[in-house]
Amino acid sequence: MTSLQGKDILRASDLTMDEVELIMRTAFQFERMMGTGQRIASLSGSVLATLFYEPSTRTRLSFESAMLRMGGQVISVAEARLSSSAAKGETLFDTGKMIENYADVVVIRHPTVGSAAELADGAAIPVINGGDGAGEHPTQALLDLFTIRKEKGRVEGLTVALVGDLRNGRTVHSLCSLLANFGTRFYFVAPPGLTMPTAITGPLRNLGVEVIETDSVRSAAVDSDILYVIRLQKERFEDQLEYERLKGSYVVDADLVKASKPGVTILHPLPRVDEIKSEVDAYEGAAYFRQAANGVVVRMALLALVLGRI
Ligand code: NCD
Repeated sequence: MTSLQGKDILRASDLTMDEVELIMRTAFQFERMMGTGQRIASLSGSVLATLFYEPSTRTRLSFESAMLRMGGQVISVAEARLSSSAAKGETLFDTGKMIENYADVVVIRHPTVGSAAELADGAAIPVINGGDGAGEHPTQALLDLFTIRKEKGRVEGLTVALVGDLRNGRTVHSLCSLLANFGTRFYFVAPPGLTMPTAITGPLRNLGVEVIETDSVRSAAVDSDILYVIRLQKERFEDQLEYERLKGSYVVDADLVKASKPGVTILHPLPRVDEIKSEVDAYEGAAYFRQAANGVVVRMALLALVLGRI
């Protein structure tokens, strides 16, 4: 039995370094086994519930695909805000109490920070946070880490530029808390008003992590091994005029790639809007579609581990 069995995955910082390593090792092992056509540890008889109160393509489908590929079953409420009892005023705590009778593990995405934790308070089964508002998205950070290891051959000692709406982007919040354990140097590149919250930069600096904040993508790109780009999180803007004003304020195009550190790897959790030009897709270091594909094996590993079936 591992310490991940039965565990809620709510924030990246909930995971110990040993747990992160175990998830990575398991995901690499699953990837090798799938490559040779072997079947993976069966989750037959287990049920995953996906409860999505916000739009999703990759997170929901890759979790569901991961479960089905291991012989498990899936029940799902997409558009839960409209079609579940939340529309009648049910609390997430009560939803948690109920859902533990229907499933063995649940993934939730919700617009409110702390929503996954509230569901977990009610549910006795493991709860996985698939994104809580502008809070965290820990499983995206795990697949980002897996991707970095695959693309670079290592994670230790890299310089990583996080570029975009760092105030509202939950994937970067989780990712920097994971990478802080690997001697990463950071550039935080954001337009004014969308900088990384001090609740994140403060603890990083206290840990002795080097953080350089700038609004110039170019100055970060010449010195970074990885450019991790996110879109402006339109749905989090109270003032849509501010969104329109900031739209297009940072763009990764072929020119920027040319000016970047040679061999730079470009990541993006997707969906992209206009922040990475399609002309960049042909560049060999443009790894965002490979990154999305890695979501399946990483989520297979996570499900098998929290269900204690490995
Ligand atoms: C991200 C999310 O939902 O936070 N998407 C994803 O899960 N790959 C990124 C985003 O929506 O910008």
